[in-house]
Amino acid sequence: MIYVFYDLRLRNNLRFEDMIIAITNHKGGTGKTTTAVNLGVALAKIKSKVLVVDLDPQGNLSYSLGYSEIANDLFHVFTGEKAVEEVMIHVENMDLLPSDMRMADIELSLHQVENREFVLKEILAPLVGKYDYIIIDCPPSKSLLTVNALTASDAVIIPMLLDVLSIQGVIHILETIQEVKEVLNDKLKVLGMLAINVDIRKRLARDVIRFFSNNFDYKLFQIMIRSNVKIAEAPSHAQSVFAYAPNSYGAVDFLALAKEIVSLNK
Ligand SMILES: Nc1ncnc2c1ncn2[C@@H]1O[C@H](COP(=O)(O)OP(=O)(O)OP(=O)(O)O)[C@@H](O)[C@H]1O
Ligand SMILES: [Mg+2]
Repeated sequence: MIYVFYDLRLRNNLRFEDMIIAITNHKGGTGKTTTAVNLGVALAKIKSKVLVVDLDPQGNLSYSLGYSEIANDLFHVFTGEKAVEEVMIHVENMDLLPSDMRMADIELSLHQVENREFVLKEILAPLVGKYDYIIIDCPPSKSLLTVNALTASDAVIIPMLLDVLSIQGVIHILETIQEVKEVLNDKLKVLGMLAINVDIRKRLARDVIRFFSNNFDYKLFQIMIRSNVKIAEAPSHAQSVFAYAPNSYGAVDFLALAKEIVSLNK
């Protein structure tokens, strides 16, 4: 477990009643899906009731848990053909709302809909109160689906790699969050940036951590997810890292992250 001692004053009073958390970053390949799967399972392990929502047309979250090309999925909930409970799958002690590439059509057709930013919020409304945490895996873009996720959420986690381009990515997503906060969802909070795939021996990684430490507008989780091959291998076995390699660093780090998140809300 890697700890960075960091000023967390800005996270004081970070309490929220419902726990809908968007995992988002406009940049691709920053560990959003990895975080959604493994944080979801970790929270379920510490006795929380968890729903994970695959909002990315890539369908990586669903695939990572062994579900692809499902007959009925989130697409059919968006089109109104199915109720949300009808497409839900129970996997690794949590519920999953799966999706696939058909969500790209939803992205296009949402543009024609009135109140288009609020569709996911309405879909999730009957589920609020039934779960301790609802975790939404977002696509890697400033798309209408991402805006739907931010409008429906209480809080945001921004996974990032510790490199210079990631700082740019974080700045862009923070701008989008600010826009959504001002116009669509004033309760939205940034829970934190999550450093993922971390090799602390690299000087660049330490420099990026220093950047965040010196800029108190940015809140880095104390827990970082170390680089761990078991995390990368798990999706091809259709499992979380907890099921695939329960004693790995990956499992240890994600469990510690889940505990940090639960403790933020105490
Ligand atoms: N801690 C880690 N150790 C090793 N590999 C990791 C780690 N975290 C993520 N990866 C790998 O990095 C790659 C990108 O991760 P992931 O798919 O979660 O990113 P993403 O942000 O969801 O991507 P996209 O933007 O395409 O949705 C994956 O191959 C994943 O297995
Ligand atoms: Mg992804």
